[in-house]
Amino acid sequence: MRNVTKDNITQTFLEYCGPETPPRLRELLTSLASHAHSFIRETGLTHAEWQYAIEFLTRAGEITDPERNEFVLISDVLGLSSLVDMVGTVPGATSSSVLGPFHILGAPPLDYGGDLKQDNDGATVVVKGRVRNMEGNPVPEAEIEIWQTADNGLYSNQDVTQPEYNLRARLKVDHDGNYGFTTIRPAPYTVPDDGPVGDLLRATGRRPWRPSHLHFIVMAPGYRDLVTEVFPSDDPYLDEDPVFGVREDLIMQYVQEDNPDTIEDDFRAKERLTSPFFTVDFDFVLARE
Ligand code: BEZ
Ligand code: FE
Repeated sequence: MRNVTKDNITQTFLEYCGPETPPRLRELLTSLASHAHSFIRETGLTHAEWQYAIEFLTRAGEITDPERNEFVLISDVLGLSSLVDMVGTVPGATSSSVLGPFHILGAPPLDYGGDLKQDNDGATVVVKGRVRNMEGNPVPEAEIEIWQTADNGLYSNQDVTQPEYNLRARLKVDHDGNYGFTTIRPAPYTVPDDGPVGDLLRATGRRPWRPSHLHFIVMAPGYRDLVTEVFPSDDPYLDEDPVFGVREDLIMQYVQEDNPDTIEDDFRAKERLTSPFFTVDFDFVLARE
């Protein structure tokens, strides 16, 4: 095509894709080019604005390293990561939510009723619940990975003062799909805001605070992996999560308790529960593959 115009450039782009283009790639590129070209036409994007966008991405590349990926954060704060999650969520199953950059492989196993709190400061929480499928039956072969911040709002891989794998574990559920462990209340924390994403948040009057949460990955053979997070209903940042991770079905209650005798004997930290402590009851519903 020699006479490329602003009206035919999208079609021209698509015609340049050869016959070997896989169908799904063609579908994605068709939609991407159509939307991106429309965005430029509709907004009348200027050279200076486009140059700014390129510089923004260049700065993201410069600040990205194996420990910190600014491109993932851009996707998060624009709502793209969460939209991909929501598009993939099966109605009736527990909603998925962002994985975030602080998950690491190799978390140690923890038995039913095990204690993650160990020597961590913070209010003790007994977390328990059940993994079931969409028919309401328990999923006894499920495994759950959990990770969370310490009382200072930092994950173990952000803070050299914490033991390796602090507040991280991999649990098996019991024959009825029940899981349970003791831990601390995680703290709210800010997403990294010393790079281009921080500039974007400040330019739009947004705050970098994520509501406190427990991260979970729930896996079972024959079921889709569920990557999610669970938020307390009283967190002050629930309605302004910069990465759009909060969903109604992921909100839970911390219930204050005074009497450790209400807790099953299986909980190893039971004799160390000082009053008051909290309980959380949260079930996961898995969708079949
Ligand atoms: C997190 O929850 O760990 C997280 C998610 C997105 C961006 C930054 C942190
Ligand atoms: Fe997190």
